[in-house]
Amino acid sequence: MKPLSTRTLNIAASLTVAIDTLAKQMIADGKDVVSLGAGEPDFPTPEPIRVAACKAIDEGKTRYTAPVGIMEVRKAVAKKLKDENGLDYKPEQIIMTSGAKHAVFNSLAALVNPGDEVIVPAPYWVTYPELVKWLGGVPVIVQATKEAKFKITAEQLRAAITDKTKAVLLNNPCNPTGAVYTKEELGDLAKVIVEKDIYCISDEVYEYFVYDTEFTSAAAFPGMAERTIVINGFSKSHCMTGWRIGYNAAPADIAKIIGKIQGQATHHPSNVAQYAALGALEMDKSNVEAMQAAFLKRRNYMLKRTAEILPVPAHAPEGAFYLFAPVTCFYGKKTPEGKVIGGSVELCEYLLQSQGLAIVPGAAFGDDTCVRFSYAASDETLEKACDRFIAGLKALV
Ligand SMILES: Cc1ncc(COP(=O)(O)O)c(C=O)c1O
Repeated sequence: MKPLSTRTLNIAASLTVAIDTLAKQMIADGKDVVSLGAGEPDFPTPEPIRVAACKAIDEGKTRYTAPVGIMEVRKAVAKKLKDENGLDYKPEQIIMTSGAKHAVFNSLAALVNPGDEVIVPAPYWVTYPELVKWLGGVPVIVQATKEAKFKITAEQLRAAITDKTKAVLLNNPCNPTGAVYTKEELGDLAKVIVEKDIYCISDEVYEYFVYDTEFTSAAAFPGMAERTIVINGFSKSHCMTGWRIGYNAAPADIAKIIGKIQGQATHHPSNVAQYAALGALEMDKSNVEAMQAAFLKRRNYMLKRTAEILPVPAHAPEGAFYLFAPVTCFYGKKTPEGKVIGGSVELCEYLLQSQGLAIVPGAAFGDDTCVRFSYAASDETLEKACDRFIAGLKALV
């Protein structure tokens, strides 16, 4: 047989997806597993969204739409970006996508030529470097340390830019660290981005989940709208992970290219999901606010409980719904079966096998010193997870 695509063979599978799939399989097999692996809100999709989707089906909105999406929905996204983020987009600059992950792919596919460098601050969402590689680009990882609250500085960004740099990929608020850039910090990064004439891809899917701080879009700074591709979606904000609906907001020329990509690759996201997204955009913010309050409470619970066993406490996330907990002091220790824990992958394997606890190794996010908990889970699940985490770590010798 002839070899398969080298480019595709060379990218890694998503470890977060793999862990979530394994945990779901173990549960289906009757095992007692608590999974905080996936970043999936535990709340149901709000009723107005479900009603909007059912109405769309009943009205026969089940045929092809334009590759870039339905104008009514794109108008509603443009209005949201104006009202909530102060951004000026025409509906023609909005492309509805099959989730934010798809919007990340579109953005990179529109920008990256073989050999182009894309700066990816670490810890990063697992998908970014692999998609850059898949498209023939070179991910340039810039490490954000815990001491710097997991944020890169303008100086770090400047130092990483070369003649080959095409773009920087920002994720604000960040998965897996929960870091949120202040307006000033983001403004400093924006100045470098404009001065060095590179593009910015800004993944803002967690914008509504910020605690004791404010969210600002990267596209809001002088000179940035014309070089920024905004990514957002409904999976996290409106508990719509399975609906697969998100969007790109881009400069007009890039929006056209993304439309061309979608026209050839996927056509458009589900017609029904687009109407569901319209329902989400038209409903009030009470659901989002209730989730935000619940996540803040859960974040505080996770910080308190994990501090019972971690000598170095986890960084208090300012956003998203993840806790990135430092665990290096357990490396080198042995499991009751005598296996040495060498790093975050072994630690997570051990916790899954011995405690039925599924969490994600920091190595998946470019930082082997930590493990990631998703706290978008019920209070009861979080309590069980923390009990198991503590019991598992206590059993190491
Ligand atoms: C930073 C980030 N961007 C994008 C996504 C993908 O979201 P969607 O379900 O809309 O594809 C995720 C999901 O975990 C994420 O954490």
